[in-house]
Amino acid sequence: MKRLGIVGCGAVARRYYAPALLKAEAGGKLKLAGAFDPDTRAAHRFLDDFPDASAEATLEGLLGIAHDQVIIASPPAFHREQAIAALRRKIPVHCEKPLATGVDDALAMIAEARRAGTRLSVNMVRRKLLSAQSIGSMMMLGSIGELRSIEIFEGGPFSWPVDSPAYFDPASGAVGVLDDLGTHILDLLCWWLGAATGITYCDDAMGGIAANCLIQASFGIATARIRLSRDWHRPNRWTLIGSEGLIVWNREDESVEAEVGSSRWRLSGAGSGQHQTFEQAFAAPIEAIANDSPDSAFVLAGDILPSLQAVEACKAVRTAMAMPWLK
Ligand SMILES: NC(=O)c1ccc[n+]([C@@H]2O[C@H](COP(=O)([O-])OP(=O)(O)OC[C@H]3O[C@@H](n4cnc5c(N)ncnc54)[C@H](O)[C@@H]3O)[C@@H](O)[C@H]2O)c1
Repeated sequence: MKRLGIVGCGAVARRYYAPALLKAEAGGKLKLAGAFDPDTRAAHRFLDDFPDASAEATLEGLLGIAHDQVIIASPPAFHREQAIAALRRKIPVHCEKPLATGVDDALAMIAEARRAGTRLSVNMVRRKLLSAQSIGSMMMLGSIGELRSIEIFEGGPFSWPVDSPAYFDPASGAVGVLDDLGTHILDLLCWWLGAATGITYCDDAMGGIAANCLIQASFGIATARIRLSRDWHRPNRWTLIGSEGLIVWNREDESVEAEVGSSRWRLSGAGSGQHQTFEQAFAAPIEAIANDSPDSAFVLAGDILPSLQAVEACKAVRTAMAMPWLK
């Protein structure tokens, strides 16, 4: 029976990890040994459903009882030190996104995993969605010809039930919507298309946290325009235009439509039974841990470096978004 520990007992732990862990425990191959959160109320609340697990007062205490796997779901500023502490004990780590607040931190974590000969995986949960996998396959097969342009809008008023202020704390390296949504979006694009080049980035932070940003980048010869918002809702949609057709990904219901010449193809949306839910996408790596699946079942830390580099490049070239109404 694998003994697993969780670090950070906030919104993502409660909403997604708790049900996935309960399901895995019922399968009899895995057991939550304990949790660590400096907010002991958060730890106890999370452990309500796990009466045999203990709330540990320190990370070291947790690492002493969770020998087989640690999930890191603390704010990103702590990922580096916590992952390295576990890896030094040769405990595999499954880390929430973003893996780290910068590329150097990620490289240090990856180097420690290599030294330890231990797995460091990242919860890039969107890679587990059927819609994202289908578009990735179409990109690989060149189904719409040569990709020319990508137009993305994602967002809506922020409604995630966070427990800590980390999302809104510039001192912890957060810049806003780029860390929250941008990490997922750049990860999918880099996964499908390779590294981004020629990045420009602007946002409306004005010294605080950005609710809106615009990322422009190239992927090969294709240009991407990515508009993200945390205060404006319009249909969340990706449009990929190629020399021979187009793909539209409706993020509102996860449906995907492709058009090539006179042929049309549609992957039905949520509720059609074709899609995993977000809950299932979160549960997939937990099942893989329980079943001792090979590393190929996980998104490994080294695989996400291009998207971390893209996020860092955005921060390096950051300018203020045009806000003519302020003049
Ligand atoms: N993969 C996804 O789609 C997804 C979705 C939501 C959140 N996340 C990620 O999960 C992580 C946590 O996000 P959240 O939404 O649960 O945030 P949250 O603010 O709700 O919870 C964070 C928790 O971490 C605790 N914490 C603070 N400092 C800590 C430390 N040093 N060690 C351990 N715990 C500490 C806080 O007390 C709090 O309980 C973030 O990295 C976030 O980006 C990923």
